[in-house]
Amino acid sequence: MESSKIPDTVEIFPWNEVFSTGIALIDEQHRTLIDLLNVLVSHLAFQVAAPGLNQVIGELKEYAAVHFHTEEEIWRRHFQGDSWEISHLRAHDDFVDQVIRLKAEEDFKPFDEVLESIVTFLTQWIALHIIESDKRMAKVVLAFSSGCSLEQAKKLADDEMAGATRTLTETAMTLYDKLAQHTVRMTRERRALMAAGSKT
Ligand SMILES: [Fe+2]
Repeated sequence: MESSKIPDTVEIFPWNEVFSTGIALIDEQHRTLIDLLNVLVSHLAFQVAAPGLNQVIGELKEYAAVHFHTEEEIWRRHFQGDSWEISHLRAHDDFVDQVIRLKAEEDFKPFDEVLESIVTFLTQWIALHIIESDKRMAKVVLAFSSGCSLEQAKKLADDEMAGATRTLTETAMTLYDKLAQHTVRMTRERRALMAAGSKT
């Protein structure tokens, strides 16, 4: 039987319009995070070559430096010290802290297990931060173009994030979470099989 060839990177987590904030530059930068996630998941699922841990961590730090700067400039122009801006900046700081903690896992975990932690962290970040918080903030920015006040724009954003959008967002969040859990479980099972095989 002919074996199917596995491509270098499998798009297990494809870009979905539900991730779109409607601000092109932010969306473009978010895509680079999804691309990195796909490289890591491809390695876990199919043992496709992965970049070293230092490179992965380096890319995440670079992403944080460039992308958060872009976002924060946009938020600052529109939110000016509002509570939404303050909690958003705190979330960005937490991302960086978490990346540093993930890097430290290499002292007591094998490479693939550190990657599993990174994949779980990134899928949660995409679900909770990008689809939820970034998108809500972007809706406020976009509402300003119709001449709203900050409070009106926030109310509009909240209304838009409720209802049908809420259902769509929750579906995407659940799907992402399931995919990540499935990939991690598959990797663990394969590793257990390999370990059992090496003992015989
Ligand atoms: Fe953000």
